Amino acid sequence: MEHQVVIFSGRESRYLAEKIAEAYGQELGKSEVLEFSDGEIQPALNQNVRGADVFVVQSTFAPAENIMELLLMIDAVKRASARRIIAVVPYFGYARQDRKDRPRVPIGSKLMADLLTTAGVSRLITMDLHADQIQGFFNIPVDHVYSSQTFLAHLRANLDTDNVIFASPDAGGTRRANAYAKALGTGFVICYKQRNKPNEIGSIQLIGDVEGKDVILLDDIIDTGNTICKAAKIIKDSGAKSVRAMITHPLLTGNAYQNIQSSELEELIVSDTIPLKKQSDKITVLSTAKTFAEVIKRVERNESISDLYNI
Ligand code: R5P
Repeated sequence: MEHQVVIFSGRESRYLAEKIAEAYGQELGKSEVLEFSDGEIQPALNQNVRGADVFVVQSTFAPAENIMELLLMIDAVKRASARRIIAVVPYFGYARQDRKDRPRVPIGSKLMADLLTTAGVSRLITMDLHADQIQGFFNIPVDHVYSSQTFLAHLRANLDTDNVIFASPDAGGTRRANAYAKALGTGFVICYKQRNKPNEIGSIQLIGDVEGKDVILLDDIIDTGNTICKAAKIIKDSGAKSVRAMITHPLLTGNAYQNIQSSELEELIVSDTIPLKKQSDKITVLSTAKTFAEVIKRVERNESISDLYNI
């Protein structure tokens, strides 16, 4: 039996959800968010979802109100008797708190998983999680997809890839750099980064040879830009011909835009999981909408998603 599919969106991800719905072949579901005078929000669904498979699109970047709006929408969908509720969270916030790496700190991403499941989510679709093991914090299926197909297609279409070498700005990104290098049949180098505290880098060292190469730095998140700009500098100082960065989630806070503008980076290529706060001639945005629409189709048809995972 065919089930009705409804795609709703939180307010801050509407620009992306509209593109996902269009690529899927239907309009976004009708919803609104009412607001009390003190700022408390109350999402309301303006159409029937009884027995439907409902996808709710919302990235959970700051402010935390985005998380609350997603949770409240899921609760509304649950109480309106949907068959399944699938959270589509292109950027999964609090993912950087994925372990207790010092005493008396929370594991934020586990709490996020518990909140989503308690609200009523039966499946999560997300992209380029900061740490793969976050999938294990959920006791529901997680479809973890990658922006790599979009990024690689862009590279192949716009760059002479023969001289390209990939770079990870930290040891944690080695697997990603290796996967991209394999896909293009090229090599990769890594930086060894030590942090003093969140967003503050102690030291960074390059491991590998980049002389005369067009280097593409890869990362999941760019926040203040400190990591990527420092990595770009050390790579350029080590003789690279050019340095670009491809980063999925553009948080771009603090002095990020100025940092990028004055950095060695020729170009920063990001995805649209988070909206840019302003335009920059150094920043190119690639859309992930078709990937999410395709994943929604496959979830609905009970088809494999794993070939989307393969770079
Ligand atoms: C951390 O491990 C992440 O992968 C990014 O490297 C980090 O969040 C980037 O932060 P920032 O741009 O503030 O250096």
